[in-house]
Amino acid sequence: MPTVTPQERLAGVLARDLASVDALIRERMASEHAPRIPEVTAHLVDAGGKRLRPMLTLAAARACGYDGPHHIHLATTVEFIHTATLLHDDVVDESTQRRGRPTANLLWDNKSSVLVGDYLFARAFQLMVETGSLRVLDILADASATIAEGEVLQLTAARDLATTEDTYIRIIRGKTAALFSAATRVGAVIAGAGQAVEEALFAYGDALGIAFQIADDLLDYAGDAGIGKNRGDDLREGKLTLPVIRALALADADERAFWQRVIVRGDVADADVARAQAILAGRGALESTRETALVWAARARDALAAVPAGELRDILSDLAAHVVSRLN
Ligand code: IPE
Ligand code: IPE
Ligand code: MG
Ligand code: MG
Repeated sequence: MPTVTPQERLAGVLARDLASVDALIRERMASEHAPRIPEVTAHLVDAGGKRLRPMLTLAAARACGYDGPHHIHLATTVEFIHTATLLHDDVVDESTQRRGRPTANLLWDNKSSVLVGDYLFARAFQLMVETGSLRVLDILADASATIAEGEVLQLTAARDLATTEDTYIRIIRGKTAALFSAATRVGAVIAGAGQAVEEALFAYGDALGIAFQIADDLLDYAGDAGIGKNRGDDLREGKLTLPVIRALALADADERAFWQRVIVRGDVADADVARAQAILAGRGALESTRETALVWAARARDALAAVPAGELRDILSDLAAHVVSRLN
């Protein structure tokens, strides 16, 4: 019998809430006046996606005993922000595959992706205003600014071999973990949880998001072909992700020349992805990156100590191990 993953368990426990989120996503992704909008959003929404971030909001709210209606709006807000950033990200990264499908920028064009992404951002803000909570507006507005900052910092750090691990963590904390930590925090806030629980759920989301992105960056070199997006993209874009930063620190003259050519000069031949993988493996950079992802996953689990005990807390704890388990 196939084993049930923590993500599937979470989806099971939250099934009714998730169905409401899905219905609200479909209702609000529509547009009366611009048919291009539902075309593009349906392409991305119908492809699925893990719905990880909205589940975090629902789980945090429920774990804190919430029984009202607003967590649905918040979870939908979070997924809209995520979807908007994916549309923009695939333009910026010039990606051709997302969720196992051709990207919207490829099927339509960059203009459509940017503008429909803007539309989804605006729809996200409308949804959270409906909760009437200024605190959640504050948190999600901050997260949106932080995501954009992370993406811009990544842009300016690209092709710079002097990028440090600190800069790398700042980038991923911004572009990825900020939405995870906002997702869990607003769940606590809407439930009226106290400050200690709110901060614990924030810390959980932050560490989970960092573990998740480190795993994603590792899979760009170590994953199999079935991840639903292009492998080797990071190398072609000259991104200094953790495996590369670690391998650079140990590089000999030949290897340094290789990184200089592919990352700084952007001269990447097809065989270079395999060469990069071999260097990363040889320098132990894949293994040490995996270990770092596990450290962040453990931090996420530890942060849950202050969260009310129960089934949801247990699943969130297992989820932390799960997001890095694709690396085993
Ligand atoms: C993709 O996130 C963007 C990253 C932060 C790596 P997910 O892997 O959660 O994307 P979907 O929603 O499941 O497609
Ligand atoms: C995704 O970053 C982060 C955001 C969408 C803001 P990446 O560019 O690393 O993620 P993938 O690999 O395209 O999903
Ligand atoms: Mg990308
Ligand atoms: Mg990107």
